Amino acid sequence: MTQPLTIALSKGRILKETLPLLEAAGIVPAEDIFSSRKLIFDTNHEHVKLVVIRATDVPTYVEYGGADMGVAGKDVLMEHGGEGLYEPLDLEISRCKLMTAGLVDAGPVSGRMRIATKFVNITKEYFARQGIQVDIIKLYGAMELAPIMKLADQIVDIVDTGNTLRANGLEPLELIAPISSRLVVGQASMKMKYDQIQPIVDGMAKAVVARRGE
Ligand code: ATP
Ligand code: PRP
Repeated sequence: MTQPLTIALSKGRILKETLPLLEAAGIVPAEDIFSSRKLIFDTNHEHVKLVVIRATDVPTYVEYGGADMGVAGKDVLMEHGGEGLYEPLDLEISRCKLMTAGLVDAGPVSGRMRIATKFVNITKEYFARQGIQVDIIKLYGAMELAPIMKLADQIVDIVDTGNTLRANGLEPLELIAPISSRLVVGQASMKMKYDQIQPIVDGMAKAVVARRGE
């Protein structure tokens, strides 16, 4: 019997690159997601729905079974911790880097370093692994401002072109992890709905390989 299946998509920059991959797996939204204020979308498959939510909420929905599968950046997945999730496919979209950064030519810090970031868990683990004690200051955006305003010595943030850092007098320091978006599947959903989920994973995987040749 075909069961209802819900796929959680990150709204924002990942969405545009996700839809062609989903389409390659045979799933097409029934209406234009970008011009709608809806949160739930029907698709060309009667049993498949898409929910479009904040990137950071995707792993939570999938972990608790609110959605069966989803698409999110590796940064978001690392910060979440990945409990209850399988990560069967690197979609190779929205590539960027998670890095530490600081003011150009910042001198040495006396005492504990202060790090501003929205990636609190990743930052804690990264510095702990090196045996460095830091104070973490949680921010929700515009991390680059923190060293300028002397709120923090360094930041941990996403870097792509490096333009945002440069424009604000900062420089990239250390690479924490290369980032791309991943397909995630809830462990319980994978068990219960394997026959429906696996063809979608396979269809998207083929599209990822085909994109490499473009
Ligand atoms: P939220 O809406 O929950 O605050 P967000 O603002 O980080 O999340 P987006 O900016 O749409 O959401 O980013 C979604 C994902 O895209 C990130 O988790 C990251 O994996 C990737 N990403 C973020 N910034 C860039 C960038 N400048 N270039 C490429 N990929 C990026
Ligand atoms: C992201 C990230 C950096 C910037 C990096 O911000 O937080 O600020 O992109 O990209 P770059 O190296 O190409 O300049 P985004 O544009 O998503 O804004 P946000 O602060 O709303 O997340």
